[in-house]
Amino acid sequence: MNADFEVIADGLAEQGYAVVDQFLSQHEVEAILQVKEFNDNRLFKKAGIGNSQSVQIQEGIRGDYIQWLDKSTAKTPIKVYLDKLDALTRFLNQALFLSLKDFEVHIARYPVGTFYKRHLDQFKQDDHRKLSVICYLNTNWKEEHGGQLRMYLPEGPKDIYPLAGRLVCFRSDQLEHEVLPAIRERVSITGWMLDKIGELKHL
Ligand code: OGA
Ligand code: MN
Repeated sequence: MNADFEVIADGLAEQGYAVVDQFLSQHEVEAILQVKEFNDNRLFKKAGIGNSQSVQIQEGIRGDYIQWLDKSTAKTPIKVYLDKLDALTRFLNQALFLSLKDFEVHIARYPVGTFYKRHLDQFKQDDHRKLSVICYLNTNWKEEHGGQLRMYLPEGPKDIYPLAGRLVCFRSDQLEHEVLPAIRERVSITGWMLDKIGELKHL
């Protein structure tokens, strides 16, 4: 696992992003997909744009449904991932001299055909999101399913497919990106490492 952490720290330092395959094993991914809350549609809400003070629903910008996770009550398979994120946060603080204090995480489900247009994750009014961290949970995902994360790098766009167990991490203040539509539902656990203690999020 520390080898993964080093790849992430090096990628962030050298290019502002990193991609690691099998950050979660196939077994860990399957365990998460079986958690009851993960499959309860009533616990998901339509994602909005903006911070908690001003959330707007805009279908033409993003079409995903989200469920915020509470670290203190998360079921074991999800907790396994959150504990890894916690260890990663501490590693990055040391390796990159950051002062990350917490992270906020949600499950994101993109129904067939939905997308998230090009954006930055850091809000204009609130710059506490420092690193974006996404772990994909889509078993047997093929390129023909679409659903790429398209990152707009200085050298041009780069596409990352949402393969199960793959982790992507990038600087929230710098890297513009979008999610392209897919022909299958697309699921992930998406989070942000913060330079402050996060607020508890509700439905
Ligand atoms: C986001 C986002 C990317 C992805 O939720 O802000 O850009 O690949 N997600 O799911
Ligand atoms: Mn984003």
